[in-house]
Amino acid sequence: MSISSVAGPGGPGGGGLVDAFTARYGRAPEAVWRAPGRVNLIGDHTDYAGGLALPFAIDRAVLVAGAARDDGALVGWSVQRPGDDAWLVYAEGVRRAATRRGLLPADGRGADLLVDSDLPVGAGLSSSAALTVAVAGVLLQLAGRPAGPEETAALCQEAENVTVGVPTGLLDQTALLQSRTGHVLAVDFRHTPPTVDPIPCPLNGLQLLAVDTRVAHEVADGTYAERRRAVEAAATELGVQNLRDAEPAAVAALPPALRRRAQHVVNENERVTAVVALLRAGRTAEIGPLLTASHASLRDDFEVSCPELDLAVDAALRAGALGARMTGAGFGGTVVVLVREDEASRVIAAVEAAFDDASMPSRTTRVEPGEGARALR
Ligand code: GLA
Repeated sequence: MSISSVAGPGGPGGGGLVDAFTARYGRAPEAVWRAPGRVNLIGDHTDYAGGLALPFAIDRAVLVAGAARDDGALVGWSVQRPGDDAWLVYAEGVRRAATRRGLLPADGRGADLLVDSDLPVGAGLSSSAALTVAVAGVLLQLAGRPAGPEETAALCQEAENVTVGVPTGLLDQTALLQSRTGHVLAVDFRHTPPTVDPIPCPLNGLQLLAVDTRVAHEVADGTYAERRRAVEAAATELGVQNLRDAEPAAVAALPPALRRRAQHVVNENERVTAVVALLRAGRTAEIGPLLTASHASLRDDFEVSCPELDLAVDAALRAGALGARMTGAGFGGTVVVLVREDEASRVIAAVEAAFDDASMPSRTTRVEPGEGARALR
């Protein structure tokens, strides 16, 4: 079943997902939510450092349909993974976090859930955050307690932190919940909740590509948490709450290991600011070198790239892309490429050739800023 079948002739919330839910559970769903994936245009490993990021929602999404149960059980079915209910741990995490915050009744009402998705898992496009956001939307709606985007983001972050055991920041949830079509979302994490500022991003004559390295991005192996600790240690060493407020000379004087991590965060924040200024001035084509510099920084100073991410970036740039960088946590996942429309085919062909697996389905898709999460029913 495709996502389009959901928003197809049956109208939003009608169509394939509703039919599948009804066939499975013998009644119609009472709530349906759609939560998209995200690409972060620039600003990675800055969210948990009180910094800046510039994500946007893409047009691939996770859909969750649900209806309340009285017996307290959370029952689930995945269209893509029939019979595999490992994902239910995320739904349980959402329910616990929402209950702890008083958003769901403590007597733990249950739900029948059905999940459909065209968002690849493990590609660094925030499929797990999308799942938690869509489940949260459904469970809160079933309980008659809709929450705002900030509260929903916080509870989904809590669910993911506890479920996956990784201290991720608020980038993904904020992007999924607050993105707007045709805009990138300037997010400032200095305070919690973060502030957001949607910036129009017309792509006149340009395209954004997402290249899936097919290296499953894995944040649970301790590397992400280790990077976060290093960033916090650098801030403590410098006596600042936030690396943004550190003096460049003081950062340069840090011990080498901490210095490179801190340098990435400080420089990345500056690059986000520069990209925002260019976008506001309608000079989108000029952001390319900043994207590429961000990749170099994540590769060399923050050390979260991998050979496949570097390969995709290098192949795209050699073929004439304006800029390219890994997006998200790194260690695998996706590269975002900015390219002139008339060069897109050449760049795509070069990236595909670089991976030398022409028999595989294409790993490159065009992406553009789409809408944030919302209820379809
Ligand atoms: C993952 C985390 C986010 C953020 C990015 C890196 O996507 O979930 O909080 O830290 O990595 O920018």
